[in-house]
Amino acid sequence: MSNSSLPLLLLLVLYIIVASGQPYENYDKSPPSSTSESVYSLQVPTLDETNFDNLLSFGYYRKTCPQFESILHSKVKEWIQKDYTLAASLMRLHFHDCSVRGCDGSILLKHDGSERTAEASKTLGGFQVVDDIKAELEKECPKTVSCADILTAAARDATVELGGPYWAVPYGRKDGKVSIDKEADMVPMGHENITSLIEFFQSRGMTVLDLVILSGAHTIGRSSCGSIQYRLYNYQGTGKPDPTLDPKYVNFLQRKCRWASEYVDLDATTPRTFDNMYYVNLKKKMGLLSTDQLLYSDQRTSPLVSALASSRTIFEHQFAVAMGKLGIVDVLTNQDEGEIRTNCNFVNAY
Ligand code: HEM
Repeated sequence: MSNSSLPLLLLLVLYIIVASGQPYENYDKSPPSSTSESVYSLQVPTLDETNFDNLLSFGYYRKTCPQFESILHSKVKEWIQKDYTLAASLMRLHFHDCSVRGCDGSILLKHDGSERTAEASKTLGGFQVVDDIKAELEKECPKTVSCADILTAAARDATVELGGPYWAVPYGRKDGKVSIDKEADMVPMGHENITSLIEFFQSRGMTVLDLVILSGAHTIGRSSCGSIQYRLYNYQGTGKPDPTLDPKYVNFLQRKCRWASEYVDLDATTPRTFDNMYYVNLKKKMGLLSTDQLLYSDQRTSPLVSALASSRTIFEHQFAVAMGKLGIVDVLTNQDEGEIRTNCNFVNAY
């Protein structure tokens, strides 16, 4: 780490202490008052066995499906070993799920006019992994584990598979019954300005720091060329490429992206490794999406980018915290708010 980045790192550490607080503070939406049962019972439940109706908990499936995480882990590993690009697909799928109606599996629903059919969902993937895990869980513990919990945990295991951090996921999300394409088109697609990205995150209970940290997911995965071609030739009618892109990188992209249907790595340096090179690339004008590059030119976010570029450890730690926050956005936990789907593609028929 260079001496010049030390003050930035201190700034980031201070910011983190102030901004992140308790990583899971929101998931207990309304703490239960002690019931007569818990007052008079001699058995005091431990924290992770606590299983109130309106609460996520770490031991939620301990009694009903103890093999949940190990089944999920081996399935995710198996799929990613066959095709590493699925790791990025699962992570993005989780982000799109949580961004619309909270983490309720609504992105998985497959009917006319559902989120999955929206323009913004066109290049989403990883659905087959969720279906496979669900099918196995329905054999082992029928009607028990929600699709929303499966997707949240799969995104975590996918991160770990590519060398990223591990975080504990609290469970108990119910699956939503509503999924509307127009709502999915509100998810940012890379053309937005920083103010609208900040507002998008804030309206979901997340901070500017969460925005910068979670954008670091673009250290893996790809974008379709169609999403970035407008930056390569006639940017804003100038007849020239986007000037915020490094000219050599533009040249590389022009060769790589002859067709809109082709794909290009979001992190040109270490595309298969979950590390902090994404931020280093931004400092070299090599942010593939304009929303990535803007994080380094906007005063509200650029000090955070610099600090994260200088420490992989801090990035990984904070990524785990921010993913914990993403995973609890507007979760449904009451019986009457949602259900446990038996097939992640469809709302239960009964
Ligand atoms: C900050 C706002 C964000 C914007 C504007 C954005 C935009 C995009 C776009 C345009 C793509 C390429 C889509 C395509 O053309 O195929 C993409 C890919 C991706 N995004 Fe984001 N994203 C954002 C936040 C996030 C977050 C918070 C995560 C996860 C925590 C995430 C994870 C990913 C991943 C992993 C990919 C690669 C997917 C693949 O290779 O299949 N993104 N994003």
